[in-house]
Amino acid sequence: MENPEVIKEKFDQELKALSQREGLSVLKAHYIGKKGFIAEAIKALQSLPKEERPLRGRILNELKEYIERRLIEKEKELIEIEYLRKLTSEKIDITIPGRLQRFGTEHPLTKTLKEIINIFSSMGFSVEEGPEVELDFYNFEALNIPRDHPARDMQDTFYITDDILLRTHTSPVQIRVMEKRKPPLRMIAPGKVYRCDADVTHSPVFHQVEGLMVGEDISMANLKAVLEAFLRELFGPDTPVRFRPSYFPFTEPSAEVDIGCLLCGQRGCRVCKNSGWLEILGAGMVHPEVFKAVGYDIERYTGFAFGLGVERIAMLRYRIDDIRLFYENNLMFLGQF
Ligand code: DAH
Repeated sequence: MENPEVIKEKFDQELKALSQREGLSVLKAHYIGKKGFIAEAIKALQSLPKEERPLRGRILNELKEYIERRLIEKEKELIEIEYLRKLTSEKIDITIPGRLQRFGTEHPLTKTLKEIINIFSSMGFSVEEGPEVELDFYNFEALNIPRDHPARDMQDTFYITDDILLRTHTSPVQIRVMEKRKPPLRMIAPGKVYRCDADVTHSPVFHQVEGLMVGEDISMANLKAVLEAFLRELFGPDTPVRFRPSYFPFTEPSAEVDIGCLLCGQRGCRVCKNSGWLEILGAGMVHPEVFKAVGYDIERYTGFAFGLGVERIAMLRYRIDDIRLFYENNLMFLGQF
Protein backbone atom coordinates (compact mmCIF):
# COMPACT_ATOMS: atom_id res chain seq x y z
CA MET A 1 0.00 0.00 0.00
CA GLU A 2 2.83 2.43 -0.58
CA ASN A 3 2.12 2.83 -4.25
CA PRO A 4 0.21 6.09 -4.96
CA GLU A 5 -1.57 4.48 -7.91
CA VAL A 6 -2.90 1.69 -5.74
CA ILE A 7 -3.92 4.09 -2.99
CA LYS A 8 -5.78 6.32 -5.43
CA GLU A 9 -7.61 3.43 -7.06
CA LYS A 10 -8.67 1.99 -3.76
CA PHE A 11 -9.76 5.41 -2.48
CA ASP A 12 -11.81 6.11 -5.61
CA GLN A 13 -13.60 2.79 -5.26
CA GLU A 14 -14.37 3.24 -1.60
CA LEU A 15 -15.53 6.79 -2.10
CA LYS A 16 -17.83 5.74 -4.90
CA ALA A 17 -19.41 3.04 -2.75
CA LEU A 18 -20.06 5.48 0.08
CA SER A 19 -23.72 6.43 0.57
CA GLN A 20 -23.77 7.74 4.17
CA ARG A 21 -22.18 10.93 5.34
CA GLU A 22 -20.90 9.25 8.51
CA GLY A 23 -18.57 7.11 6.34
CA LEU A 24 -16.63 10.19 5.22
CA SER A 25 -14.70 10.68 8.45
CA VAL A 26 -13.68 7.02 8.52
CA LEU A 27 -12.40 7.27 4.97
CA LYS A 28 -10.63 10.50 5.81
CA ALA A 29 -8.82 8.90 8.76
CA HIS A 30 -7.85 5.82 6.73
CA TYR A 31 -6.32 7.83 3.91
CA ILE A 32 -5.12 11.21 5.07
CA GLY A 33 -5.19 10.77 8.85
CA LYS A 34 -2.05 10.74 10.99
CA LYS A 35 -1.75 7.01 10.60
CA GLY A 36 -3.42 6.80 7.23
CA PHE A 37 -2.13 5.34 3.96
CA ILE A 38 -0.61 8.64 2.78
CA ALA A 39 1.23 9.14 6.08
CA GLU A 40 2.54 5.58 5.88
CA ALA A 41 3.65 6.09 2.27
CA ILE A 42 5.45 9.31 3.19
CA LYS A 43 7.21 7.50 6.01
CA ALA A 44 8.18 4.79 3.57
CA LEU A 45 9.94 7.39 1.36
CA GLN A 46 13.01 6.91 3.58
CA SER A 47 13.61 3.50 2.13
CA LEU A 48 13.75 4.90 -1.40
CA PRO A 49 16.93 5.97 -3.11
CA LYS A 50 17.48 9.68 -2.44
CA GLU A 51 16.92 10.85 -6.00
CA GLU A 52 13.52 9.21 -6.27
CA ARG A 53 12.18 10.78 -3.13
CA PRO A 54 11.25 14.34 -4.35
CA LEU A 55 9.17 13.09 -7.25
CA ARG A 56 7.41 10.42 -5.17
CA GLY A 57 6.93 12.96 -2.42
CA ARG A 58 5.28 15.43 -4.77
CA ILE A 59 3.00 12.73 -6.18
CA LEU A 60 1.95 11.78 -2.67
CA ASN A 61 1.24 15.42 -1.77
CA GLU A 62 -0.86 15.85 -4.87
CA LEU A 63 -2.69 12.65 -4.02
CA LYS A 64 -3.36 13.97 -0.54
CA GLU A 65 -4.80 17.20 -1.95
CA TYR A 66 -6.86 15.17 -4.40
CA ILE A 67 -8.29 13.04 -1.61
CA GLU A 68 -9.10 16.10 0.49
CA ARG A 69 -10.88 17.72 -2.43
CA ARG A 70 -12.82 14.60 -3.33
CA LEU A 71 -13.93 14.13 0.28
CA ILE A 72 -15.32 17.68 0.36
CA GLU A 73 -17.05 17.22 -2.99
CA LYS A 74 -18.52 13.92 -1.89
CA GLU A 75 -19.81 15.50 1.29
CA LYS A 76 -21.59 18.15 -0.73
CA GLU A 77 -23.09 15.48 -2.97
CA LEU A 78 -24.32 13.43 -0.04
CA ILE A 79 -25.85 16.48 1.62
CA GLU A 80 -27.67 17.26 -1.59
CA ILE A 81 -28.96 13.68 -1.93
CA GLU A 82 -30.11 13.62 1.66
CA TYR A 83 -31.92 16.90 1.18
CA LEU A 84 -33.70 15.66 -1.94
CA ARG A 85 -34.68 12.44 -0.20
CA LYS A 86 -36.12 14.43 2.66
CA LEU A 87 -38.00 16.70 0.30
CA THR A 88 -39.68 13.81 -1.49
CA SER A 89 -40.50 11.87 1.66
CA GLU A 90 -42.00 14.91 3.37
CA LYS A 91 -43.78 16.17 0.32
CA ILE A 92 -47.13 17.82 1.00
CA ASP A 93 -49.86 17.59 -1.58
CA ILE A 94 -51.49 20.97 -1.20
CA THR A 95 -54.23 19.98 -3.67
CA ILE A 96 -55.75 17.36 -1.32
CA PRO A 97 -58.98 18.73 0.18
CA GLY A 98 -58.70 19.42 3.93
CA ARG A 99 -60.27 17.20 6.56
CA LEU A 100 -63.50 18.79 7.70
CA GLN A 101 -63.63 19.51 11.40
CA ARG A 102 -66.98 18.53 12.92
CA PHE A 103 -68.23 21.04 15.40
CA GLY A 104 -70.34 19.89 18.32
CA THR A 105 -73.72 21.49 18.84
CA GLU A 106 -75.68 22.14 21.98
CA HIS A 107 -78.26 19.51 22.83
CA PRO A 108 -81.80 20.82 22.13
CA LEU A 109 -82.72 20.21 25.77
CA THR A 110 -79.70 22.18 26.98
CA LYS A 111 -80.60 25.01 24.60
CA THR A 112 -84.18 25.08 25.76
CA LEU A 113 -83.20 24.89 29.43
CA LYS A 114 -80.70 27.73 29.02
CA GLU A 115 -83.32 29.94 27.39
CA ILE A 116 -85.84 29.22 30.14
CA ILE A 117 -83.24 29.98 32.83
CA ASN A 118 -82.19 33.21 31.08
CA ILE A 119 -85.73 34.52 30.87
CA PHE A 120 -86.45 33.90 34.57
CA SER A 121 -83.03 35.19 35.65
CA SER A 122 -83.77 38.43 33.82
CA MET A 123 -86.93 38.70 35.95
CA GLY A 124 -84.89 38.34 39.13
CA PHE A 125 -85.53 34.65 39.87
CA SER A 126 -82.65 32.74 41.51
CA VAL A 127 -81.69 29.29 40.24
CA GLU A 128 -81.86 26.51 42.86
CA GLU A 129 -81.11 22.81 42.94
CA GLY A 130 -82.34 19.85 44.95
CA PRO A 131 -81.52 16.14 45.20
CA GLU A 132 -82.85 13.65 42.63
CA VAL A 133 -82.98 10.94 45.28
CA GLU A 134 -85.55 12.49 47.56
CA LEU A 135 -87.44 11.82 50.77
CA ASP A 136 -91.15 11.03 50.63
CA PHE A 137 -91.62 14.02 52.93
CA TYR A 138 -90.36 16.57 50.39
CA ASN A 139 -91.75 14.90 47.28
CA PHE A 140 -95.24 14.32 48.71
CA GLU A 141 -95.99 14.94 52.37
CA ALA A 142 -94.92 18.60 52.63
CA LEU A 143 -96.62 19.31 49.31
CA ASN A 144 -99.97 18.38 50.83
CA ILE A 145 -99.99 14.87 49.35
CA PRO A 146 -100.35 12.50 52.33
CA ARG A 147 -99.77 8.76 51.96
CA ASP A 148 -103.38 7.84 51.27
CA HIS A 149 -103.97 10.80 48.95
CA PRO A 150 -105.40 9.79 45.55
CA ALA A 151 -103.06 12.27 43.85
CA ARG A 152 -100.17 9.88 44.52
CA ASP A 153 -101.58 7.72 41.74
CA MET A 154 -101.13 10.61 39.30
CA GLN A 155 -97.41 9.95 39.34
CA ASP A 156 -95.87 6.52 38.92
CA THR A 157 -93.14 6.68 41.50
CA PHE A 158 -89.83 4.78 41.57
CA TYR A 159 -89.50 3.89 45.25
CA ILE A 160 -86.11 2.98 46.73
CA THR A 161 -87.44 2.31 50.24
CA ASP A 162 -90.76 3.24 51.84
CA ASP A 163 -89.38 6.70 52.57
CA ILE A 164 -86.84 7.25 49.81
CA LEU A 165 -87.69 7.68 46.15
CA LEU A 166 -86.58 9.25 42.88
CA ARG A 167 -88.29 12.62 42.82
CA THR A 168 -91.30 12.60 40.51
CA HIS A 169 -91.26 16.39 40.06
CA THR A 170 -89.13 19.41 40.94
CA SER A 171 -91.74 20.69 43.41
CA PRO A 172 -89.82 19.30 46.46
CA VAL A 173 -87.17 21.97 45.79
CA GLN A 174 -89.81 24.56 46.75
CA ILE A 175 -89.96 23.01 50.21
CA ARG A 176 -86.19 22.75 50.59
CA VAL A 177 -85.68 26.40 49.64
CA MET A 178 -88.50 27.69 51.86
CA GLU A 179 -87.11 25.71 54.83
CA LYS A 180 -83.83 27.60 54.43
CA ARG A 181 -85.06 31.07 53.52
CA LYS A 182 -87.58 33.64 54.63
CA PRO A 183 -89.82 35.50 52.15
CA PRO A 184 -89.75 37.45 49.95
CA LEU A 185 -88.27 35.03 47.46
CA ARG A 186 -88.48 34.13 43.82
CA MET A 187 -86.73 31.09 42.46
CA ILE A 188 -86.72 28.50 39.75
CA ALA A 189 -85.41 24.94 40.11
CA PRO A 190 -84.49 23.11 36.90
CA GLY A 191 -83.61 19.44 37.03
CA LYS A 192 -84.23 15.77 36.23
CA VAL A 193 -87.33 13.98 37.44
CA TYR A 194 -88.31 10.31 37.26
CA ARG A 195 -91.52 8.43 36.55
CA CYS A 196 -92.25 4.83 35.74
CA ASP A 197 -93.67 5.57 32.30
CA ALA A 198 -92.37 5.29 28.74
CA ASP A 199 -93.84 5.89 25.29
CA VAL A 200 -93.60 8.42 22.42
CA THR A 201 -94.29 11.37 24.72
CA HIS A 202 -93.12 9.92 28.08
CA SER A 203 -89.62 9.06 29.20
CA PRO A 204 -88.79 7.52 32.60
CA VAL A 205 -86.39 10.41 33.13
CA PHE A 206 -87.21 13.90 31.95
CA HIS A 207 -86.67 17.51 32.93
CA GLN A 208 -88.80 20.07 34.70
CA VAL A 209 -88.39 23.64 35.76
CA GLU A 210 -90.14 24.57 38.99
CA GLY A 211 -90.98 28.16 39.87
CA LEU A 212 -91.91 29.81 43.14
CA MET A 213 -92.51 33.37 44.22
CA VAL A 214 -93.52 34.25 47.79
CA GLY A 215 -94.13 37.65 49.35
CA GLU A 216 -96.68 39.79 51.14
CA ASP A 217 -98.94 40.71 48.26
CA ILE A 218 -98.40 38.04 45.65
CA SER A 219 -101.59 37.37 43.71
CA MET A 220 -102.92 35.34 40.83
CA ALA A 221 -102.47 38.48 38.72
CA ASN A 222 -98.70 38.34 39.37
CA LEU A 223 -98.66 34.66 38.37
CA LYS A 224 -100.46 35.49 35.13
CA ALA A 225 -98.18 38.41 34.32
CA VAL A 226 -94.98 36.47 34.97
CA LEU A 227 -96.07 33.40 33.01
CA GLU A 228 -97.40 35.41 30.08
CA ALA A 229 -94.18 37.41 29.90
CA PHE A 230 -92.19 34.19 30.03
CA LEU A 231 -94.23 32.36 27.38
CA ARG A 232 -94.21 35.32 24.97
CA GLU A 233 -90.47 35.68 25.38
CA LEU A 234 -89.98 31.98 24.65
CA PHE A 235 -92.54 31.44 21.88
CA GLY A 236 -92.92 34.93 20.40
CA PRO A 237 -94.72 38.16 21.37
CA ASP A 238 -98.00 37.27 19.66
CA THR A 239 -98.42 33.84 21.25
CA PRO A 240 -101.96 33.40 22.64
CA VAL A 241 -101.90 32.31 26.30
CA ARG A 242 -104.85 31.06 28.36
CA PHE A 243 -105.37 29.85 31.92
CA ARG A 244 -107.68 26.93 32.63
CA PRO A 245 -108.85 25.83 36.08
CA SER A 246 -107.17 22.64 37.24
CA TYR A 247 -106.22 20.74 40.36
CA PHE A 248 -102.92 20.21 42.16
CA PRO A 249 -102.78 19.31 45.86
CA PHE A 250 -100.10 21.93 46.56
CA THR A 251 -101.87 24.91 44.96
CA GLU A 252 -105.28 26.52 45.44
CA PRO A 253 -106.57 27.75 43.10
CA SER A 254 -104.73 25.71 40.48
CA ALA A 255 -104.47 26.33 36.77
CA GLU A 256 -103.13 24.77 33.66
CA VAL A 257 -101.68 27.15 31.12
CA ASP A 258 -102.08 26.66 27.38
CA ILE A 259 -100.55 28.43 24.41
CA GLY A 260 -102.07 28.65 20.95
CA CYS A 261 -100.96 25.67 18.87
CA LEU A 262 -97.66 26.53 17.18
CA LEU A 263 -98.06 23.89 14.51
CA CYS A 264 -101.42 24.77 13.01
CA GLY A 265 -101.85 28.41 14.11
CA GLN A 266 -104.93 27.30 16.10
CA ARG A 267 -106.76 25.89 13.06
CA GLY A 268 -106.67 22.43 14.65
CA CYS A 269 -104.25 19.59 14.03
CA ARG A 270 -103.08 16.20 15.31
CA VAL A 271 -100.67 17.71 17.86
CA CYS A 272 -103.28 19.95 19.52
CA LYS A 273 -105.96 17.28 19.03
CA ASN A 274 -107.98 19.78 17.01
CA SER A 275 -108.42 22.09 20.00
CA GLY A 276 -106.05 24.81 18.77
CA TRP A 277 -104.38 24.86 22.22
CA LEU A 278 -101.33 23.16 23.74
CA GLU A 279 -101.01 22.55 27.45
CA ILE A 280 -97.66 23.92 28.52
CA LEU A 281 -97.48 24.06 32.32
CA GLY A 282 -99.20 23.66 35.67
CA ALA A 283 -99.42 26.48 38.19
CA GLY A 284 -101.37 27.97 41.05
CA MET A 285 -101.34 29.88 44.33
CA VAL A 286 -99.33 28.05 46.98
CA HIS A 287 -101.66 26.04 49.27
CA PRO A 288 -101.68 27.19 52.92
CA GLU A 289 -100.88 23.61 53.98
CA VAL A 290 -97.57 23.90 52.08
CA PHE A 291 -96.69 27.12 53.90
CA LYS A 292 -97.57 25.43 57.19
CA ALA A 293 -95.18 22.57 56.43
CA VAL A 294 -92.28 25.03 56.17
CA GLY A 295 -93.40 27.29 59.02
CA TYR A 296 -94.39 30.34 56.95
CA ASP A 297 -97.06 32.67 58.40
CA ILE A 298 -100.10 32.02 56.22
CA GLU A 299 -101.75 35.27 57.35
CA ARG A 300 -98.84 37.29 56.10
CA TYR A 301 -97.56 35.53 53.02
CA THR A 302 -98.98 34.39 49.73
CA GLY A 303 -97.20 32.98 46.73
CA PHE A 304 -97.51 31.36 43.37
CA ALA A 305 -95.83 28.27 41.96
CA PHE A 306 -95.57 26.64 38.59
CA GLY A 307 -93.96 23.60 37.01
CA LEU A 308 -93.18 22.97 33.37
CA GLY A 309 -91.80 20.09 31.33
CA VAL A 310 -88.64 20.98 29.38
CA GLU A 311 -88.99 18.13 26.86
CA ARG A 312 -92.49 19.17 25.96
CA ILE A 313 -91.37 22.74 25.32
CA ALA A 314 -88.37 21.60 23.28
CA MET A 315 -90.61 19.27 21.23
CA LEU A 316 -92.93 22.15 20.39
CA ARG A 317 -90.15 24.62 19.65
CA TYR A 318 -88.25 22.30 17.35
CA ARG A 319 -91.21 20.25 16.07
CA ILE A 320 -89.85 16.98 17.41
CA ASP A 321 -92.48 14.25 17.55
CA ASP A 322 -90.73 11.52 19.57
CA ILE A 323 -89.30 12.20 23.04
CA ARG A 324 -86.88 9.29 22.74
CA LEU A 325 -84.84 11.23 20.15
CA PHE A 326 -83.52 13.38 22.99
CA TYR A 327 -81.77 10.44 24.64
CA GLU A 328 -80.47 8.35 21.76
CA ASN A 329 -77.37 10.50 21.08
CA ASN A 330 -77.87 10.14 17.33
CA LEU A 331 -75.51 12.69 15.76
CA MET A 332 -77.68 13.03 12.65
CA PHE A 333 -80.48 14.27 14.92
CA LEU A 334 -78.33 16.33 17.29
CA GLY A 335 -76.34 17.99 14.48
CA GLN A 336 -79.48 19.83 13.34
CA PHE A 337 -79.51 22.19 16.32
N1 DAH B 1 -95.39 19.20 40.03
C1 DAH B 1 -96.39 19.18 38.99
C2 DAH B 1 -96.17 17.98 38.10
O1 DAH B 1 -95.09 17.47 38.03
C3 DAH B 1 -96.31 20.43 38.14
C4 DAH B 1 -96.74 21.61 38.89
C5 DAH B 1 -98.07 22.03 38.87
C6 DAH B 1 -95.85 22.34 39.68
C7 DAH B 1 -98.49 23.13 39.56
C8 DAH B 1 -96.26 23.43 40.41
C9 DAH B 1 -97.60 23.83 40.33
O2 DAH B 1 -95.43 24.15 41.15
O3 DAH B 1 -98.00 24.91 41.02
O4 DAH B 1 -97.10 17.57 37.44
